[in-house]
Amino acid sequence: MNTQPAPKRLAGQNALVTGANSGIGEGIARELAAEGANVAVNYVVQPETAEAICDDINKAGGGKAIAIQGDVSKEDDVQAMFAGAIKQFGTLDIVCSNAGIQRDARLVDMTIAQWEQVIGVNLTGAFLCARAAAREFTRRGMRDVSRALGKIIFTSSVHQEIPWGGHCNYATTKGGIMQLMESIAQELAPRKIRVNSICPGAIETAINRKAWDTPQAAAALEKLIPFGRIGVPADVAKVAAWLASDESDYICGASIYVDGGMTLYPGFATGG
Ligand code: BGC
Repeated sequence: MNTQPAPKRLAGQNALVTGANSGIGEGIARELAAEGANVAVNYVVQPETAEAICDDINKAGGGKAIAIQGDVSKEDDVQAMFAGAIKQFGTLDIVCSNAGIQRDARLVDMTIAQWEQVIGVNLTGAFLCARAAAREFTRRGMRDVSRALGKIIFTSSVHQEIPWGGHCNYATTKGGIMQLMESIAQELAPRKIRVNSICPGAIETAINRKAWDTPQAAAALEKLIPFGRIGVPADVAKVAAWLASDESDYICGASIYVDGGMTLYPGFATGG
């Protein structure tokens, strides 16, 4: 009987995950490392949180982790962040553009600052990270760790499809990520760079705490989820690891909804 452990799917690969100091990003960083990848854990503030995640990962016996500061909405920060990760690891094979924020307001109350912050982090940040990733993958050429030259994985949202009143800045960025992802997937596929999005629904993290942290709120939220439970970061992280691996080598330009059916218009189960 073969008692060897299965080889880790991402062994020998290096990843950068933006916004990896909490929530879905943290889950993705932990999962990629568990699958053998070295991971740069990006954060903006509170280095101690990112360092604690890295310590955990480094003790777990998978890939190694380093914390790396940078605000993805700033071009210079993104350049420095990629340069830092590449200096430590040699190159990058997987870039998860995950960092995202909400600054919610009704349209008539929304300030230009709320609009610009969300566009800056969620959409400009996605562009800057994708551009830096494609430049690095192209510069270093093929490696024997993966069939792809590189993988870019966006954390989008169900709100790339579902309109969201009171959150028009956020929904606009996610609709934008869909077109960004598909346009660059088309452009980069001939170079064997795979670009895809994960579209989470309601995942229990700090960004949506108000929507799940009382029994009443959780019950209202669950009505929007045919599967009847709120998601957890691991639901998304497992898909990210698969999208980063050669098991999904023919997937390119896809939006994968990880949402317990939130995009199935559950109101129509009993209405319409
Ligand atoms: C948002 C969450 C929200 C979920 C479902 C996500 O993209 O960040 O706040 O709960 O979509 O509406």
